[in-house]
Amino acid sequence: MSAGEPGSGAARGPFRVGDRVQLSGPRGKVHSITLAAGGRFGTHRGEIRHDQLIGIPDGSVVEASNGDRWLALRPLLSDFVMAMPRGAAIVYPKDAAQILQLADVFPGATVVEAGVGSGALTLWLLRGVGPEGRLLSIERRDEFADIARANVAARHGGVPANWSLYAGDLREALPAALDADPQLGPGSVDRVVLDMLAPWECLDAVADALAPGGVLVCYVATVTQLSRTAEAIRARGGFTQPQASETLVRGWHLDGLAVRPDHRMVAHTGFLLQTRRLAPGVEAPEPARRGSKTEYGEEDVELWTPGALGERPKSDKRMRRVVRDAEKLARETGAEPGAGAAPEVPAGEGSPSGDAGLGG
Ligand SMILES: C[S@@+](CC[C@H](N)C(=O)[O-])C[C@H]1O[C@@H](n2cnc3c(N)ncnc32)[C@H](O)[C@@H]1O
Repeated sequence: MSAGEPGSGAARGPFRVGDRVQLSGPRGKVHSITLAAGGRFGTHRGEIRHDQLIGIPDGSVVEASNGDRWLALRPLLSDFVMAMPRGAAIVYPKDAAQILQLADVFPGATVVEAGVGSGALTLWLLRGVGPEGRLLSIERRDEFADIARANVAARHGGVPANWSLYAGDLREALPAALDADPQLGPGSVDRVVLDMLAPWECLDAVADALAPGGVLVCYVATVTQLSRTAEAIRARGGFTQPQASETLVRGWHLDGLAVRPDHRMVAHTGFLLQTRRLAPGVEAPEPARRGSKTEYGEEDVELWTPGALGERPKSDKRMRRVVRDAEKLARETGAEPGAGAAPEVPAGEGSPSGDAGLGG
C-alpha cells in the first residue's frame, strides 16, 4: 500500500515497503524512489540501500556509501504532482490552490472536472471533496485517461471509490453520466472546473449540470481564450458576471542578510475565470458599462487553433511511454492501475457507476 495521500492508509509513521520517499542530496539534487525490501538507489557517486530507510521516521537523514548525506521525506502532494509522469500540461500547485478557493470546493461536494490530462488537478480536487464527496472526471483522450488513472492510483494506493473517470467529450459524457446515476441528475452538481482548450463549447452542458448558485471555474492558458470564454458566458446568460485573475508566486532567497526575491520564477501558467450559476429563468443585471467590441471575426478565431496556441502534438510512441511510466509507478506502490481505456458514456445510455467505471 502506498504511503501517499492522507486517508489512503499509510501517510504517517516510519517508512514502509511501497512508500514513495523523496531524497534530497548534495547540491540540491532531488530523487523520488519507491521503497522495496533489498532495493538500492544509486547515483554515480554512491549508493543508498532501501533497507537503511525502511523502519526509520519520516524526515530522517541517511548516509550514502560515499558519505553523502541525503534527507528523506514523504513527498507532499505538490511534490508528487510535479514529479509524476505527464502526458498533457498539468495545473501547477499554485493554481490548484486558487482553484480550490475560487470554486469553493468543500468536503462532501459533488464536483465535475474536464479534461483530466495527467490527473494533477484531479488529485487536488479529490483532496478537497474528501471521502464524503464525489468527483466526476471527464477526458476525451483515452491515453490521457490511462495516465491520470495510474497517477491517481499511485498516490492513493488504488483507485478511490468516490472517483468516476469517464471517456468522452464533456458535452455528451456529462449529461449521460448524470442521467445514469440515480443519486445525480441535471442541477445536482455543486462545482465544475474546466481545464481545456475551448471551455465556451461546454457551457450548455455545464449550465444543465450545475445547481443554482453552483460555481464554474475555467483555467485557460491565453488571454484570447479568457476573453472568448467570458463573452460566451455573457452571451449565453444564466451565469453571474465572470471574474478573472491570475496568480503569480515569487519565491524568495533567504540566506543571512541576503534576503531578496529569487532571480527566476514561473511567470505564466494560466488565467482563472469564475462565475456562478443563476436560478432557472434568472438573468444577471447588466454590468454598469460595456464599451468594447465583443464579436469575433474569422481572423480572431484563427488565433485559437491548437497550433497557434503553442500546443505541440505528442507522438503516439511518446504517449505509450508515459502510460507505461505511470502504470509502473502505480504498480511499484502496490496499486493496480487498472487496464484499458475509461468507459465510453454514450449519450442517453446507462453509464457505469463511478467506481466500476474506473476499471480499477
Ligand atoms: C491541459 S489538459 C488538462 C490537465 C489537467 N487538468 C491536469 O492538471 O493534469 C487538457 C485536457 O482536456 C482534454 N479535453 C479538451 N476538451 C475536452 C472536452 N470537451 N471534453 C473532455 N476533455 C477535453 C484534452 O484531451 C486534454 O487532456
